[in-house]
Amino acid sequence: MKFTLENDSSIEQLQALDCWNEGEKITNLSDVNDSNMNKVLRIHTDQRSVIAKQSRPYVRKFPQIPAPIERIQTEKRFYEEIQMNSELLKFSPRILAWYPESYLLITEDLGQLGDFSGIYSSEKKLEPKQIQELITYLNQLHQIQPEDFPDNLAMRELNHEHIFNFPFNEHNGFDLNTIQEGLQELSLPHKSDKELKNQISELGKRYLKKGNVLIHGDYYPGSWMDAGDSIKIIDPEFSFMGDAEFDLGVFLAHADFGDQGDEVELQLKSNYNNPIDWNLVQAYRGVEIMRRLIGIAQLPLELNLVQKEALLNQAKSYLL
Ligand SMILES: Nc1ncnc2c1ncn2[C@@H]1O[C@H](COP(=O)(O)OP(=O)(O)OP(=O)(O)O)[C@@H](O)[C@H]1O
Ligand SMILES: [Mg+2]
Repeated sequence: MKFTLENDSSIEQLQALDCWNEGEKITNLSDVNDSNMNKVLRIHTDQRSVIAKQSRPYVRKFPQIPAPIERIQTEKRFYEEIQMNSELLKFSPRILAWYPESYLLITEDLGQLGDFSGIYSSEKKLEPKQIQELITYLNQLHQIQPEDFPDNLAMRELNHEHIFNFPFNEHNGFDLNTIQEGLQELSLPHKSDKELKNQISELGKRYLKKGNVLIHGDYYPGSWMDAGDSIKIIDPEFSFMGDAEFDLGVFLAHADFGDQGDEVELQLKSNYNNPIDWNLVQAYRGVEIMRRLIGIAQLPLELNLVQKEALLNQAKSYLL
């Protein structure tokens, strides 16, 4: 039976799913802090709460933007891989139930945790121990080489457009001055820099190719939940077999936005264990910085134009 998850979904229908303990009664549903792509709700019962996540063939917050519905299947496969590794197991929620016909995944509720977006406004700082935890996770993850992991190509194509293409298109119709007055002018030299654009286009082709290791694909503060004494990693819907350097570059780019880039770089250089091409890490770092500054997927940054310009130039130096 197909089930559509809504805030006012019928409790009877939810209760009819076969994932509940004997005698367990659903009491109510509540919203989670933040979700744009999918429908995510907390289901409360008389014994516990769980998280229900359902993908739709579009972006939930912007229904006019199509998005591949199979993404939740990739997320489920990713969690399955994680759960076979004793080190990674503790980082992510356990799968409780999976209803493929409804694109509905039920997982353990990690609690009402905040994420690390606070690093953009200096409200939060990554402590050295936390940076180490984020590196430990990638050390383990990037050793996983499943044979038949979904290629997640449609999601990568969506990401490809918004990382490697749209932000650098002079005629993309996105007026950056609606984000911050003067940002549009700041973006123009980069959008017309042939050498830079060529480099980014080659990098984008590489992103679309199959790589050797399992990567999270969206390794940024919004996917890191702060559980106080540990960090939990969620939302692997962009995962695929790719370049380890992509996760590392994205991680570093967001550390740069939190003014902790040098710190994370130092720790990565001494504690990340898998073989990598550092130039490739820097290239992905550069493009992530740029696309977050001049693309659609904006972050809650509190930077003035001078700071943004400095970051754009720094990013360019990582790419060329
Ligand atoms: N297992 C969990 N335990 C506790 N909270 C969770 C869990 N999974 C998700 N959440 C909460 O729900 C929010 C949205 O989840 P998630 O990021 O997976 O959805 P999404 O639709 O992919 O969101 P986004 O648009 O940000 O990518 C998270 O930010 C978090 O607050
Ligand atoms: Mg998501």
